[in-house]
Amino acid sequence: MCGIVGYVGPRQAPAIILQGLKRLEYRGYDSAGIAALEENGRFAIRRDAGKLSNLETLLQSSPLEGHAGIGHTRWATHGKPNQRNAHPHLSMNGRVVIVHNGIVENFLELREELEAEGVTFASDTDTEVIVQMVERYIESGLEMETAVRQTLKQLRGANAVVIMGLDRPNELFCARLGNAGGIALGLGDNEMFLASDIPAILEHTRRMIFLENRQMAHLTPTSYRIMDLDGQTIPPDIHTIAWDPVSAAKGEFKHFMQKEIFEQPRSIVDTLRGRVDFENGRVHLPEMNLTPELAQRINKLYITACGTSFYSGLAGKFMIENLARIPTEVTYASEFRYYDPIIDEDTAVLAITQSGETADTLAASEQAKAEGATLWSIVNAFGSQSMRISHGYIPMQAGPEIGVASTKAFTTSLVDQYLLACALSDLRGTISRRKLRQLVDDLAQLPDLAGRVLDHDAEYEELANQFFKVHNFLYLGRGINYPIAREGALKLKEISYIHAEGYPAGEMKHGPIALIDETMPVIAIATKDHLYEKMISQIQQAKARGGTVIAVATEGDAAIANEADHVIYVPEAPPLLAPIINVIPLQLFSYHVAVRRGADVDQPRNLAKSVTVE
Ligand code: F6R
Repeated sequence: MCGIVGYVGPRQAPAIILQGLKRLEYRGYDSAGIAALEENGRFAIRRDAGKLSNLETLLQSSPLEGHAGIGHTRWATHGKPNQRNAHPHLSMNGRVVIVHNGIVENFLELREELEAEGVTFASDTDTEVIVQMVERYIESGLEMETAVRQTLKQLRGANAVVIMGLDRPNELFCARLGNAGGIALGLGDNEMFLASDIPAILEHTRRMIFLENRQMAHLTPTSYRIMDLDGQTIPPDIHTIAWDPVSAAKGEFKHFMQKEIFEQPRSIVDTLRGRVDFENGRVHLPEMNLTPELAQRINKLYITACGTSFYSGLAGKFMIENLARIPTEVTYASEFRYYDPIIDEDTAVLAITQSGETADTLAASEQAKAEGATLWSIVNAFGSQSMRISHGYIPMQAGPEIGVASTKAFTTSLVDQYLLACALSDLRGTISRRKLRQLVDDLAQLPDLAGRVLDHDAEYEELANQFFKVHNFLYLGRGINYPIAREGALKLKEISYIHAEGYPAGEMKHGPIALIDETMPVIAIATKDHLYEKMISQIQQAKARGGTVIAVATEGDAAIANEADHVIYVPEAPPLLAPIINVIPLQLFSYHVAVRRGADVDQPRNLAKSVTVE
């Protein structure tokens, strides 16, 4: 949730940290702050409530200097999102400073103990207990590193921390406990970086190490050491990141969300590259570690995910059941643990996650693995926990997704599930070679189809201009387009704050039809497939109740213009790939509605990009 950046080296730390925080602001924007070790040998802190721009203004009037520093953007959990609770937090006697992501579950108990010892607290946060404990240990005679380790061992819950102390100037200590989001260490030349997400430091280095659960690191400008909480050194696993820094910047676009919607043809190409053998009509997913024996043995699949990734799974179920003939259940990761799923060694669990660090998805994955399932994941953030704990995974290749509303990761994960369905059906022998070749051939046109939808952006904007004042929307779809109706509704509500429901069209008559009147527009996905006639009848029912209908229809379908009030035409796509195309106009419609309403598209209220709390 929160974003963390740290730097130690010859350059000015505050400037580097501020730049990094800008890349992480999608993780939280309740408050922001930076601490640096100044020339006078003391910590100086600048922090403010609200967005990073407030901190930036503060830094202009009250600059900060130093060669080691830590910074934070906050998504509040404990304590109001005000200046007093903004990170970094300083210990009572000013010897230790901290930034933190996660929740210290036993903080009340620890705080009471510290208060009984005479420690006074300056904030309402759970974070502050950590920094006060480290200082207490140092003052009782422990060396800084030992004090940090002692403290970390006493914390319950999932937490990621970065700590600096006056006793070890120009050094950083950081740790990861559980699934509170990762920490990537960036290795530079005579300088070291760290961040909760790769884009924050990618412009400085591509050589990175990702901390595992219950690991900590000690950084100086010229050295790093990874260790466990007992101080045992752990050999580093250094990754070279392929993402380029440019793709993590907004460029000519007004918003990251807009940029990411327009990147979809490219992210689809990247997803297909190296995996689809168009010549031989085959799909290769090397990181999935699939064997014919495994593919044939799996007799049940759970797809588990949250939010947009969950809707992707709902559509993926159609692909996998249709082609690979594996019974597939799609579950909210936040519910997975609580309904006792039936898992054995012939069950596979597929986690879909853009960030690779959603706490609920990780918890579901870990449970599935512990119960003997084969754990697969489709994950965008390279090196993330989800990728690391899986027996097999598909790296999404969407590139950095910064806009809080997920767009390109959604379409990319749909393509990945299509590829998985092809690979599994090939190994299981559930489809003919001819059919597989056809499925693979169909993929070749996908980037172009996506591009053609984007060419009509002005029409979606015009539609948004007509509808941006509406208070409620109903989205309808059937079959594989039902999840697209839900995703379309989610996009609208999260960035424009308009209430929207996504429904399977056939269910309308069992309740939601009561909502329809002239104030409630209906978006009906009615592209040409075997359910087309049924969708038309649903449109007619909505019209009969006075509803205004916007239909998403296939190019060339002139007849639908007689049924619906407005038509968004999309190019015809093969049935299992159609959702990837049909969702794009809905993304752009939501985007333009939100812009017209003056909403903060990239940082919608109350949301954060990576949800690392339960
Ligand atoms: C919606 C959105 C969220 C995420 C959800 C899961 O636009 O972004 O609903 O899809 O929080 O996140 P990941 O995929 O990172 O696990």
